[in-house]
Amino acid sequence: MPMWAGRFSKEIDERVNDFNSSIKFDARMYKQDIQGSIAHATMLGEQGIIDKTDSEKIIDGLNQILSDIESGELEFDPAAEDIHMFIEAELTKRIGDAGKRLHTARSRNDQVALDIRMYLRDEIVEIAELVKKLIKTVTDLAGKHLNTVMPGYTHLQRAQPITFAHHLMAYANMLLRDIERLKDTYKRTDRLPLGSGALAGTTYPINRQRVCELLGFSEVCQNSLDGVSDRDFCIELASTISILMMHLSRFSEEIIMWCSWEFKFIELDDAYATGSSIMPQKKNPDITELIRGKTARVYGDLNTLLSMMKNLPLAYNKDMQEDKEAIFDAVDTVKLCISTFIPMLSTMTVLSENMRQAAAKGFINATDCADYLVKKGLPFRDAYKITGTLVKRCIELGVTLETLPLNEYKKLSDSFDEDVYKAISLETCVNERKSQGGPSPDSVKAQIDYVIDNLKRY
Ligand code: ARG
Repeated sequence: MPMWAGRFSKEIDERVNDFNSSIKFDARMYKQDIQGSIAHATMLGEQGIIDKTDSEKIIDGLNQILSDIESGELEFDPAAEDIHMFIEAELTKRIGDAGKRLHTARSRNDQVALDIRMYLRDEIVEIAELVKKLIKTVTDLAGKHLNTVMPGYTHLQRAQPITFAHHLMAYANMLLRDIERLKDTYKRTDRLPLGSGALAGTTYPINRQRVCELLGFSEVCQNSLDGVSDRDFCIELASTISILMMHLSRFSEEIIMWCSWEFKFIELDDAYATGSSIMPQKKNPDITELIRGKTARVYGDLNTLLSMMKNLPLAYNKDMQEDKEAIFDAVDTVKLCISTFIPMLSTMTVLSENMRQAAAKGFINATDCADYLVKKGLPFRDAYKITGTLVKRCIELGVTLETLPLNEYKKLSDSFDEDVYKAISLETCVNERKSQGGPSPDSVKAQIDYVIDNLKRY
């Protein structure tokens, strides 16, 4: 019999009960629900809204329920409407009338808003910790490859020489921004909606500030209608996670390319790759492909939340029950992805020699050749044109700029000398790019220090 049965003269249709019920997916908030109820009961007792003895009985009963759920002694009833109803009913079953007083000055509308916020606060911290670990893995790997020359690309065409460390540090910076966004999302999640009631507050002399302290929130939601109908924090978190997944999917895509025979820049550890059921030679980068695929799913979760909230009149509407599956899926997915990505990244073998060989092809030192002429006094546009003609000549002769004979250089400009070969060597090209943020080993070392330093702030 549901708690609200008094108003009804018929039992609910079983299909409606199933359709309405959210316990399958909100049971995971049992701990937050109990902690929230304990704080509420404490405050009710302190304010004299219920008897101190009832408040104590409620708190004991709730603690018992918590330990029984955790030990597996108490199982969730799939027929219950939601986790809130389940726990309240269980409490009343155990302690009788005192249990029926718990819901004084409270509604499920502010209760559910409280539970999700508390649940997500913990999740945000966990995700941020995982991202930190991933950044550490990336910077450690970068530290080992400060001198590993590889081609940098634009339009997926070889463009200019960089190092593997430089390339990796681009991801470290993206991930650092993800942590910033997570911390920022936390701020707006960390507000207490309890005390908003169903929508219009309450006539009881509650003390929201006290509940706020007890549950460790930084402030209370300032308007009761907003308190029960705000799901911005879910949308913000889904959006933060979507951006994070986008970063992981770009990284994944590169790893997929890098371990193809066409690139062969890396080799995945056998424990982090899979084979084919028919092609014996195959070693597939399934993890990264799945991360790419799961990114779509998280974008879907964000879209669900945005669409679900669109046009909803104030205050609570049942549509909002749909928030949980979407945000829980986003949170679960990103944690799973990062936890698998970290060991995959730290165990892969970097094939530095193949990276270097790829960098030696594709005339990626052409800009440096033009810059050589600029240093000899030519305007950049003239130097650019001469170098373009040189590249054309190299293609005709089937050589590279490094192996093109000096007389060919001289045909195009007197300014060329023997020292051109040193100026366009891959090492010079990389080492001389000392600009802040650039690929020279010192520059990248500074980038690593910056990221590690900033991580300490979070
Ligand atoms: N299970 C509901 C949810 O997740 C709890 C709030 C129900 N409130 C109500 N007035 N029906 O949103």
